[in-house]
Amino acid sequence: AYPNVAPTPPMGWNNWSYYLCEVNEKVVLDNARALVRTGLADKGYDTVTVDDCWMAKQRGPDGELVPDPEKFPHGMAYVGRQLHQMGLKFGIYEDVGTLTCGKYPGSFGHFPQDAAQFARWKVDYLKADGCNVPTAPGRTKEETYHDLYRQQSRALEDTGRDITFSVSAPAYFQYAGDKVWHKVIRWSSKLGNLWRGGRDIAMEQQSPATKWSSIAYNFRYNAGLAGLQRPGRWNDPDFLLAGDSGLTRHEIQSQMSLWAVMAAPLISSTDLGELSPAAREVLGNEQVIAVDQDPLGVQGKVVGQGDGFTVLSKPLANGERAVALFNSGDTPRTLSTTAEAAGLPGAGAYRMRDLVTGRTRSSGGAIVAENVPPHATVLYRVGTN
Ligand code: DGJ
Repeated sequence: AYPNVAPTPPMGWNNWSYYLCEVNEKVVLDNARALVRTGLADKGYDTVTVDDCWMAKQRGPDGELVPDPEKFPHGMAYVGRQLHQMGLKFGIYEDVGTLTCGKYPGSFGHFPQDAAQFARWKVDYLKADGCNVPTAPGRTKEETYHDLYRQQSRALEDTGRDITFSVSAPAYFQYAGDKVWHKVIRWSSKLGNLWRGGRDIAMEQQSPATKWSSIAYNFRYNAGLAGLQRPGRWNDPDFLLAGDSGLTRHEIQSQMSLWAVMAAPLISSTDLGELSPAAREVLGNEQVIAVDQDPLGVQGKVVGQGDGFTVLSKPLANGERAVALFNSGDTPRTLSTTAEAAGLPGAGAYRMRDLVTGRTRSSGGAIVAENVPPHATVLYRVGTN
């Protein structure tokens, strides 16, 4: 992982939470074309990642990884070429254990060989999962993971190709207690460009309530990790569900706004060919994307919270602040903070722009969002006049 890759949070698409193992060349390239056609690629969603289950069950005669010949009849170099021709980047999935979570060959014992193969395929982004890791004799689980992710990271560097490195390790320590979990996050942030810390965002097949609770859960844990990230090194609370996922418009907007204020990777996992106009609008909101991709690269911090609400503030490169007011409760409510609490300098008046409605108003210092619907987030950009 190179510090000069991913200077802002990665953006793109991944098949997993929508297609699970039903991934193939057509799914990947159709979604890539949809990214371009909908204009989302131009807005920054440029990395297309093939998740688990792309391989054959066995390595080839020279120990090489072999793509499933039915799913990827033209091989992976071909997929990479097609993506690059569309102006997109090519992401792929592997695992540092003996087998992936879906029980395909893992990179354990093959790091240099696999990394070289990815580089030949012109892979730009590797998601390295952490299933099926055998704890080394005399080593703890944490030390074992550290060793393996270090091997993976070195192998990528040794290819000489800029490959963004997504580390899943912290997700495998989320129940080990904060001390160990934070330790794993700290070394993940040295080895990789982004790292998963919480649970999987729910799959397409799950109920809307389960999807929403997975979003709320990943928001909560990730909001506590502000300060552990920096430009080129990002906390990753997993996929955006904005799609036709059964969630309400408020819920998909809320996830997008919360992920943006947390400077989280914006990786959509849905069928982009079927994206409703509402979902396209949410994913494509350039004002919200600009908050996420702000060059200062700081994750917003919680500046206010109580039963059923959280307020976050993110400093931006031009001196303004993005302020998110999130109603996590089940009834509408008015939420508020102040310019001072949000970290803005003292001033007689402030300009607040609602990044979803586009409406601007001025304020003497109170930052108020009235009647925020259940599960909705109001995202303001606030500056002095
Ligand atoms: C667990 C990861 O958290 C998911 O995002 C996905 O990559 C699956 N493994 C694939 O098996």
